[in-house]
Amino acid sequence: MSGRRTPVAVLISGRGSNLQALIDACADPSYPAEIVLVISNVPGAGGLDRAAAAGIATETIEHRDFAERDAFEAALTAALAKAGAEIVCMAGFMRIVGPAFVARWADRLLNIHPSLLPAFPGLHTHARALAAGVKLHGCTVHIVRPELDDGPIIGQAAVPVLPGDDEASLAARVLTVEHKLYPRCLRLLAEGQVTLGGDRAATMLEGSANAGAYLTNPKA
Ligand code: GRF
Repeated sequence: MSGRRTPVAVLISGRGSNLQALIDACADPSYPAEIVLVISNVPGAGGLDRAAAAGIATETIEHRDFAERDAFEAALTAALAKAGAEIVCMAGFMRIVGPAFVARWADRLLNIHPSLLPAFPGLHTHARALAAGVKLHGCTVHIVRPELDDGPIIGQAAVPVLPGDDEASLAARVLTVEHKLYPRCLRLLAEGQVTLGGDRAATMLEGSANAGAYLTNPKA
């Protein structure tokens, strides 16, 4: 593809393995987005090193430096706008964003959450999935709305919960599919293939390759 690549910024707080998946996707010149800025609210977050290694501009904007959330988020928006970001991806960004920030980036703000929403919003999703005894677990990429872990779902990926799983093994299995799902969903948004209607998002996937796909556990 020789078309324009949508400038994207990524917000992180930690190790940045999802950031890395997005960096790797953007390394393909035919991918419709490019990362122009990575912002961490945590100094020294591992993801900052990943960005620097890929030659991507980084900033650290610590929420602790601001008395109020709105001021912190105004600083985020100023940096994002200066970098020319048109889509903002939250990838392990451990701050709840407020309504003004969500409105500023309306329908251009994505999040990845490690559960099959609307199940298990919030923290400790893998432990809660194990405690609930669900047989399928996974992750969700959605457009951010002011409510926590809510908003139009662009994509989900499911994995089986296996006998003997603990929190770490289940988290690792989910993380593997997070790294596939996030670049896929960002591609759909950047290509204009996401259609929003009310609280829902519809996507046009290429061809009908996924039309018959399903994941079931136990085998059926
Ligand atoms: C991921 O599990 C993501 O779904 C959640 O936080 C974790 C971030 O991991 N929001 P990483 O920093 O991308 O490795």
